[in-house]
Amino acid sequence: MRKLLFLFPARAAVVAAAALLALATGCTYSHAPEPTPCVDAAPATYAAVISPIFEAHCRECHGATVYQALGGGNDYSSYAGIKQQSASLILGCIRHDPGFTQMPKGKDQLSACDIARIQAWIDAGQPNN
Ligand code: HEC
Repeated sequence: MRKLLFLFPARAAVVAAAALLALATGCTYSHAPEPTPCVDAAPATYAAVISPIFEAHCRECHGATVYQALGGGNDYSSYAGIKQQSASLILGCIRHDPGFTQMPKGKDQLSACDIARIQAWIDAGQPNN
């Protein structure tokens, strides 16, 4: 009994250490960069992919009825509105490049995947497709 009592804390410590190690390893993995992100089957089109990204992340401030009040006068409610804005300004803002205002303002950065989709769409000349 004496021996058991003596051994148990040591055992518990080993188990606890192993559990902590497992947790720490888990955390390391969860912070690792996304594994090769989006490999889309087809290039992102404005209607199916780009507009929905703006809808989900930008139009609450840059929508038709609110952009003056909430979006600093930048209207991204439509294709024409987005096209009118400097593409490099949009990219700098969503990539959080130094010297650019970070967008979406006060919220999490877009996923690497969505940024890559917008980048590819801009590189393709922002087709209205
Ligand atoms: C919570 C409100 C909000 C959201 C969401 C938001 N913006 Fe903005 N955005 C603003 C405001 C306000 C400004 C005006 C500049 C400022 O006040 O920081 C602005 C300005 C901009 C500008 C112009 C920056 C400049 O230097 O002139 C761009 C480009 C932009 N936003 C892109 C986006 C994009 C793309 C998204 C979605 C991915 C987005 N914003 C989401 C509020 C928002």
